[in-house]
Amino acid sequence: MVEFASKVVLVTGAASGVGAGTAKAFAKHGTRLCLVDRDEENLAKTETECKNVGAEKVLAIVADLTKDEDLKRVMQKTIEEFSELNILLNIAGICLNAPIEIASFKDFDDTYNINVRAPLFLTQLAIPFLEKTKGSIVNISSIASKEYADASQMIYCMSKSSVDHFTKIAALELAKKGIRINAVNPAFMKTNIFQSWLNSAEDAEELVQGRAKLVPLGRKNVKVDDVINAIMFLASDRAKMITGTCLFVDGARHLTGI
Ligand SMILES: NC(=O)c1ccc[n+]([C@@H]2O[C@H](COP(=O)([O-])OP(=O)(O)OC[C@H]3O[C@@H](n4cnc5c(N)ncnc54)[C@H](O)[C@@H]3O)[C@@H](O)[C@H]2O)c1
Repeated sequence: MVEFASKVVLVTGAASGVGAGTAKAFAKHGTRLCLVDRDEENLAKTETECKNVGAEKVLAIVADLTKDEDLKRVMQKTIEEFSELNILLNIAGICLNAPIEIASFKDFDDTYNINVRAPLFLTQLAIPFLEKTKGSIVNISSIASKEYADASQMIYCMSKSSVDHFTKIAALELAKKGIRINAVNPAFMKTNIFQSWLNSAEDAEELVQGRAKLVPLGRKNVKVDDVINAIMFLASDRAKMITGTCLFVDGARHLTGI
């Protein structure tokens, strides 16, 4: 995709999983990248990998996107370094094990602050720059936003419903500025996001195997690469008439209602 060469792409959650993979995929197209995460050590690894595979330039910013001053600093540094922005990818997120009877105020705030508040306000900060480039935004939602309901993931499911709705409402609002905004809604992928509520390697393997059985298409889990392909499509000019869409990458899992 020659069209991505030299484009300025801001990726949140770039230290791990979908964010790290997406950053590297864009780097291969010669993009200028701003990589953001709170995990300094792994962010540095992604930075090096992106440079090695062909990024034109890489700026890594260690930031906690639940903090107002960090959100503002990220946008300020991006523009200071690159003078423009073409693509914003809101990928950072957390998933806590917090069913209704044990969920805490903190669980709720922690989840909403990164999964909903950060994408919303990073988008707001990006508007003037994306308007100039007629750029686009991709939010990472989840199948958890829809029919699928997992009691242990109550707050996460709610937060991802908010991401879908935010995507649609912002699409209507930003269309007049020529900015597109879409979401990608993946089913379960084997990444680090679930580590905090797994007790052992056996737990992890059970989760991976169990989730795979629930995917109608092939009874196998979605791969990070499947999601990266969807992100790159929505961010590209091939999707120039697509905005306000939630694209499910889930082998029809969300249609099963479980
Ligand atoms: N893995 C799945 O099964 C799955 C399924 C559907 C949707 N998603 C979504 O995909 C996105 C990426 O998740 P992943 O699976 O790659 O998980 P991951 O844990 O591998 O990556 C998430 C990244 O976000 C970063 N992050 C979390 N809180 C942050 C904060 N306050 N400030 C800055 N960075 C922060 C983490 O440090 C981490 O590097 C998330 O939005 C997640 O909800 C994941």
